[in-house]
Amino acid sequence: MVKKWIGELEFTDEVQPALLKDLVYLLAGLEDNNESNYLYVKQQLELKGIQSISVGKLEFYKEEDLYVDSQKQKQYSKEVYFKSINLVKEVVDGIKSQKVINIRKAKHLMQNAVNSVMQDESALLGLANIKNYDEYTFNHSVNVAIYAIALGQRIGIPKKHLCHLGMAGLFHDIGKMRIPQEILNKKEKLSPEEWAVIRAHPVVGAELVIQMKEWGELSTRLINAAFEHHLKYDLTGYPRLSKKRNLTLFGKIIALSDFYDALVRPRVYRRFPYVSEKILGFMLERANKDFDPALVKVFINMIGIFPLGTLVLLNTNEMGIVLQTQEDPELIDRPKVCLLYYSGGEYRKGKIVDLREIDENTRLFKKSIVKTLDPNEYNLNVAEFLI
Ligand SMILES: [Fe+2]
Ligand SMILES: [Fe+2]
Repeated sequence: MVKKWIGELEFTDEVQPALLKDLVYLLAGLEDNNESNYLYVKQQLELKGIQSISVGKLEFYKEEDLYVDSQKQKQYSKEVYFKSINLVKEVVDGIKSQKVINIRKAKHLMQNAVNSVMQDESALLGLANIKNYDEYTFNHSVNVAIYAIALGQRIGIPKKHLCHLGMAGLFHDIGKMRIPQEILNKKEKLSPEEWAVIRAHPVVGAELVIQMKEWGELSTRLINAAFEHHLKYDLTGYPRLSKKRNLTLFGKIIALSDFYDALVRPRVYRRFPYVSEKILGFMLERANKDFDPALVKVFINMIGIFPLGTLVLLNTNEMGIVLQTQEDPELIDRPKVCLLYYSGGEYRKGKIVDLREIDENTRLFKKSIVKTLDPNEYNLNVAEFLI
């Protein structure tokens, strides 16, 4: 199949033995090394009126499990992150100028993001946690994709679908491109008419995806995610529904990721973001009403009470930045922390400590977090310490 450039075969219905035999002959007869073989198979299936089998081209995903080196892994994650931001920009420009969208590139990038998350969740999650003012929309889309992939991975969504989940995250707010900038960036209170424009973006987004034929099998998932991402677990929220519906898993995951990312970062109208503890607390409170309670649990475990990049004060009076959360939910308040020391007029990277460490004499934890601090007050750019 690799030689013949066939990367996907999907059966959506039971296939009769005779049909399967035809398919095998068809595949076996393909030329080697012909990139467009899948088009030929597609055509043949169409000619025979077979709709229950679909075929896709082989995509060369970077399957490198080579990044044993954590520095290289970080570098790779950073590349994926910034390339994804550019991609979202490209797609938005593409839609505006009605160009054909390069869906393969998007898929490929998200596949890389999935690989990166599978190898070391903390690298991409750390990037997503870095608060950034510029280009909120693009950063936001990529962050939502990352949170969604990481959450999806934790609940056991298969790899191929994780890539689709990433795409759903990237394009959940695509409908926002039809909202005028003046409304999006308005600092004053919005008028009811302006609110109506904002609240239309899930529907507009779903419509935009429907118009883009090149999304193929992916489109149902993308449509659902765009349409459902502001609907709550109890089906309140927007758009108003005329009929009850079951929210899709993708929709629920994107809604949760979207909510978290929107609150955790500063916006034009809110200079200081909510601290993450507060948001997670809010999520817990609203589980069952706004969010799927099972997903909330997994999400909180994933982010930790002290998310990556949080500036904390320890009981030893040292300051540190959270570098890695613990897998064990019991130890959620004991992440790995990079200590900071002050020298030459600025904060510098110090030792990395694991807050699970116990003092052998006293049998107590060596260091514990007392509280979180606002990096702005210390003129600290957390990103520098994290990447
Ligand atoms: Fe949205
Ligand atoms: Fe959003």
